[in-house]
Amino acid sequence: MTASNHSHAEVVIVGTGHGGAQAAIALRQHGFEVSILMIGRDDAPPYERPPLSKEYLAGDKGFERIMIRPEKFWAEKDIALRLGAAVSAIDPMRHTLTLSDGSHVTYGKLIWSGGGDPRRLPVPGAVLPGVFYVRDKSDADAMMAALAAGARRAVVIGGGYIGLEATAVLRKLGCDVVLVETLPRLLARVAGEELSSFYAGEHRRQGVDVRLSTGVQAVLGEAEGRVTGVRLSTGEEVACDMVIVGIGVVPAVAPLIAAGAVGSNGVDVDFCCRTTLDDVYAIGDCAAHANDFADGAVIRLESVQNAHDMAATVARAIMGDKQPYHALPWFWSNQYDLKLQTAGLSLGFDQTVVRGDPETRKFTVVYLKGGVPIAFDCVGTMKDYVQARKLLESGCGQIDPALLADPDVALKELV
Ligand code: APR
Repeated sequence: MTASNHSHAEVVIVGTGHGGAQAAIALRQHGFEVSILMIGRDDAPPYERPPLSKEYLAGDKGFERIMIRPEKFWAEKDIALRLGAAVSAIDPMRHTLTLSDGSHVTYGKLIWSGGGDPRRLPVPGAVLPGVFYVRDKSDADAMMAALAAGARRAVVIGGGYIGLEATAVLRKLGCDVVLVETLPRLLARVAGEELSSFYAGEHRRQGVDVRLSTGVQAVLGEAEGRVTGVRLSTGEEVACDMVIVGIGVVPAVAPLIAAGAVGSNGVDVDFCCRTTLDDVYAIGDCAAHANDFADGAVIRLESVQNAHDMAATVARAIMGDKQPYHALPWFWSNQYDLKLQTAGLSLGFDQTVVRGDPETRKFTVVYLKGGVPIAFDCVGTMKDYVQARKLLESGCGQIDPALLADPDVALKELV
């Protein structure tokens, strides 16, 4: 090992997304003056991911406006960035990382904020040029280049938030879109039927050909050429010149698990984001944790909120203040002119109440479990969202569904 291919930092952060960037920022904000090195696969300095399927893809926001901090910030704060570099192995005994270029980095503490990789479409033709995912800036850039080159007919595979947001942008840009979802409803993983049918209706109203209970057999293309279509599970062939895949995320934790960290869905962390390896923490999309807002169930949360709040927890823990992770989950999605804001987790709900009329495009879905509100999906109802957060944070008990259903009763009156 030579000096040139071996470096050391007291805190090494793997991943330059929201979690990694925020952990470095939080450590400096707390006045922690040790050496910090961030290592990221991405070539670009830390940026926000949510706009990649929204304003960035639509061309409404350039890269400067989605950067987490201006580029010079990192050097000013003495946070070293090693971009375009992937960690391939961890030696937990020696506190050493091996990078894909063969170099080594030793750490005092390691914060793994590796996020996830888009789940790949498991059908023939899925690697043809013209098949896109939406996870990194480079993915969005590739899609934008295809659009600029004249792509106008898209098949979007997956009716989760990624697929729906990309669909909304593509329609705004004038593309024809066929949206394919294997399950009988959209957003089935994260929302109840009311929200699913509302968004299916909105997309259809916007001219999207929404195909539910439909899978994909193959992506079709010219021999060694670009995509020309998609064969659906029904046997029907849909012609297109681009395919966008949003079928979920696989946590990026392989080096951690190979090094012996415990985890089956991502990597397991304790109340202050420690993995089972000494001096190794994990945060964000890949960290399986017991969540207070899911009755203590062990879950992973793929959201900016979770990345930020875990970053704060880990920064405190590294500085000796081991406060347990306790943060209300929230999320948002923009499609067309609709703004959805979610507070809480609907996991395991047994009842829903709708406040307001979905026909007006302003309404709230309340999720209850045993009569207790656990989550709110607020479509265009910002006031409900703000008050719902307070209600959930206050640890409310059972509330009469009739009161929840009445939009004239403010949620704050029910706290
Ligand atoms: N064909 C069609 N649909 C499929 C297929 C398939 N082969 N495989 C999965 N799906 C559907 C699922 O049923 C689900 O509705 O794709 C959808 C994927 O939704 P999510 O799992 O929520 O994933 P995605 O939309 O890719 O979002 C990934 O990005 O927006 C963030 O934080 C958000 O966690 C989310 C992440």
